[in-house]
Amino acid sequence: MALPNKDYSPGLEGVIAAETRISFLDTEREEIVIRGYNLLELIRLASYVEVVGLLLWERLPTPEERAALERSMVESSVPNAIYDILRRLPSTMHAMDRLRTAVSALAGFDPEANSSDAASEIARAPRLIGQIAQIVANLSAIANGQEPQSFVPGRSFAENFLATLVRRSVTPAEVRAFEQSLIAYSEHELPNSTFAARVVASTLADVYGALTSAVASLKGPLHGGANEAVMYMLLEAGTPEGLEQLIRAKLARKERIMGFGHRVYMRRMDPRAQLLKEVLHELIRQRGEGHLYADMCQRGEDIMRAEKGLFPNLDYYAAPVYYLLGIPIELYTPIFFAARTAGLLAHIIEQHRENRLYRPRVLYTGPRGLRL
Ligand code: ACO
Repeated sequence: MALPNKDYSPGLEGVIAAETRISFLDTEREEIVIRGYNLLELIRLASYVEVVGLLLWERLPTPEERAALERSMVESSVPNAIYDILRRLPSTMHAMDRLRTAVSALAGFDPEANSSDAASEIARAPRLIGQIAQIVANLSAIANGQEPQSFVPGRSFAENFLATLVRRSVTPAEVRAFEQSLIAYSEHELPNSTFAARVVASTLADVYGALTSAVASLKGPLHGGANEAVMYMLLEAGTPEGLEQLIRAKLARKERIMGFGHRVYMRRMDPRAQLLKEVLHELIRQRGEGHLYADMCQRGEDIMRAEKGLFPNLDYYAAPVYYLLGIPIELYTPIFFAARTAGLLAHIIEQHRENRLYRPRVLYTGPRGLRL
């Protein structure tokens, strides 16, 4: 059967590929809808743990439920064997590759890894989110020969995550900035990594396989890998003038500028970027330092708008926030994954519940009729 060409959209641009109750990018109303709530309002007013509850349970948790959920996330423990595996990997391996290996290996320590009924998947989710955050928080330390640290019961999830990443005590303002980035990254409809996870889940493969495919997807510089690439670009530039020169030189060579553009928000600002820009400014105000990064980012934003009509995405402003918090650059994309684990799990559970195997067709452009 020949398929009509009108069915073909390269990169599935504009194609509706899933029915979901989780989230929606409403570009007309400029709203990112998460289970009925506006993501920007969640970033401003909610805690990350509340958003995790919302994603998993389809409603905001009560204060008691929120506290119990936070305890399960903080008190989940990572098997020592996972840290042993990470110790044996070459420290030159990209942090996302080390994370991908660890996420895959976690399956071996879950006796119910293969059960995909919604009740066990929802019950397992808080533990998995906690384990993945702890693995991410310890990735660089392990590569540097240090011992991993567990999260401390009684401290919030966000404080534990940040304090373990930077290995020092952190201020409430720092924790809030970090937590807001986690909420911003928690869920965003059907990007490549979420689609990858849903495609794998649609074969009724287990959660660990679906998550592993999402880590692999997120590593790419066109997707989650952009946040670390933005930071390397800012550091290479050094000053607003340096960034202007660097961007102009890259554009002259027809290179992409990391942190700009988005398949869905191509000619408008990613609403999450605007909010993270506010978070960056607030962090700088609280610390009384770091203005250089805000100035550089503004210069880059102005040039890209004037030269290409392109706007920043979330990664552009998450990068300097993480830099000012003192987080190792190689961990920016793993943090994106840890934060997104909640959204990914919601999608995997939904896919398993209302499954239809993904199996699209091709527009064949190769030869025919060849003979041996
Ligand atoms: N720098 C320079 N030019 C760009 C950029 C960019 N960052 N993004 C898009 N363009 C240009 C393209 O060259 C193209 O121009 P042309 O029509 O003259 O050839 C036009 O804008 C349209 O670009 P496409 O590649 O068709 O758009 P697509 O939807 O495939 O790309 C993408 C989206 C991949 C995110 C792109 O904007 C990009 O490469 N950005 C940089 C990487 C990045 O920041 N990724 C993070 C995404 S957000 C996230 O994961 C949280």
